[in-house]
Amino acid sequence: MTEITIRKPDDWHVHLRDGEVLKSVAGFTAACFARAIVMPNLAPPVTTAREAVAYRARVEAAVTGHTFTPLMTCYLTDNTDAKDLIAGFKDGIFTAVKLYPAHATTNSAAGVTSFDKVQGVLEAMAENDMRLLVHGELPKAEIDVFDREKAFIDEILLPLLDRVPSLKIVMEHVTTSHGVDVVRAHKGRLGATITPQHLLFNRNALFNGGLRPHFYCLPVLKREEHRLALRKAATSGEPGFFLGTDSAPHLRHLKEAACGCAGVFNAPAALAAYLRVFEEENALDKFEAFASLNGPEFYGLPVNEERVTFRKKPQFICDGVPVDKMGEIHPMFGGGEVDWSMA
Ligand code: DOR
Ligand code: ZN
Repeated sequence: MTEITIRKPDDWHVHLRDGEVLKSVAGFTAACFARAIVMPNLAPPVTTAREAVAYRARVEAAVTGHTFTPLMTCYLTDNTDAKDLIAGFKDGIFTAVKLYPAHATTNSAAGVTSFDKVQGVLEAMAENDMRLLVHGELPKAEIDVFDREKAFIDEILLPLLDRVPSLKIVMEHVTTSHGVDVVRAHKGRLGATITPQHLLFNRNALFNGGLRPHFYCLPVLKREEHRLALRKAATSGEPGFFLGTDSAPHLRHLKEAACGCAGVFNAPAALAAYLRVFEEENALDKFEAFASLNGPEFYGLPVNEERVTFRKKPQFICDGVPVDKMGEIHPMFGGGEVDWSMA
């Protein structure tokens, strides 16, 4: 197959940032996705409906010329106001809530420190059929960085599923076979997004001939056996697994540094990267489920009516996306070619 036409995909997990970076990166997402779940980990984070309205307006201003709907999220803190949150959800301002365990990743210092403090908020979300999105890593110093997803699942996620029995949860950027198994074991209640980098690369990519900071993201790339499990899950067509790029731009000089930022800016190449995986797995017939159907189904949202065609035709990915007065951002596959393009 050299061409595939599907309902327009959505990105169920993206970092669009703010200010000049937002202006430089948002168009890449808006060009090929109909909607995207926009992460709230700005500095300071988006924690109220009023802040989300203002941020949404800045995103919309950055994507003029595209038909694109940003779906906003609220950053859960120990002090989240359930009333403001649920009112924001009912008013169509918030689509979901993002839980970062405190200090798990970029701008997560305000994250949740104790579930007792947010129990009321989680119950209100369940009552109103609002989704909780979790960054699935337990950021304890004594836990090996490669084991933090499993620790999160065992110590936080499984108890949370019991604690608030009707809450639907998305495990963002699942990276392990253990995570895949847990999603399968909780059909309908637990979904998972999968990134292109976790489908294409294992942890060797981080050390290939030297330290490769542009492959560094959180959760970190894992062993090959996990990558293979993710590929099977993504291409299975099973409703629990859907597209979420976790495109996370950082300026080049902040990644190529003694203490480089976590995040892969994959938006310019994400769809081509996913298509490569589905082609290699002989599963292009399952691509629409992963990219365009399973996500809306899990969120209880309508599917997109617009259709788009992707062709097997090489596309050059620029080496650096300029950001006014700040530098540039190096995309995944930047300076090289990918073999699928949007028609
Ligand atoms: O690699 C990551 N980068 N993982 C995250 O969870 C956050 C993201 C970011 O905001 O840069
Ligand atoms: Zn993310």
